[in-house]
Amino acid sequence: MENPKSIFDLFDHDDNYKFIMKRLLEQSMEESFNSIIITEASKGYPIVYVNPAFCEMTGYGPHEVLGKSPSMLQGKETDPAVIKQLNEDIRAGRLFHGRALNYRRDGSEFMMEWKIVPINGKNDRISHYLAIQKDVTD
Ligand SMILES: Cc1cc2nc3c(=O)[nH]c(=O)nc-3n(C[C@H](O)[C@H](O)[C@H](O)COP(=O)(O)O)c2cc1C
Repeated sequence: MENPKSIFDLFDHDDNYKFIMKRLLEQSMEESFNSIIITEASKGYPIVYVNPAFCEMTGYGPHEVLGKSPSMLQGKETDPAVIKQLNEDIRAGRLFHGRALNYRRDGSEFMMEWKIVPINGKNDRISHYLAIQKDVTD
């Protein structure tokens, strides 16, 4: 069978469409091999969700990062040029994709590769950002 054009086409005739979509989203995030962060689009980009893969990769528990900025992962060897590019991209509503040194809870460093996607609210204004991340240390 061919892949449907969109994931939304798969279940759109099912009465439980909304419920199925919620479960798909929840399970994709909770069981993902990639780390996922969702932040608000407000000042400092406060974290509203991290998945179990984020906690495994960084050593932080959810309660230690919720409400904080993802910049808590940065340290003295984090390339400021990458962060500048990130700020430019997301402020312009573009996808960001880059890599930089980040630091785990225990202070050890690792090479983070991540993408950030802006999420538009109903009024078409960006309300949240979604980051998909992985440890690409050699
Ligand atoms: C959704 C999201 C995820 C982010 N994830 C990371 C990350 O994993 N590592 C990192 O070094 N910075 C990450 N950042 C960037 C920091 O939050 C960044 O420092 C922030 O944009 C603030 O800019 P400033 O450092 O100029 O204040 C992320 C930003 C957003 C919005």
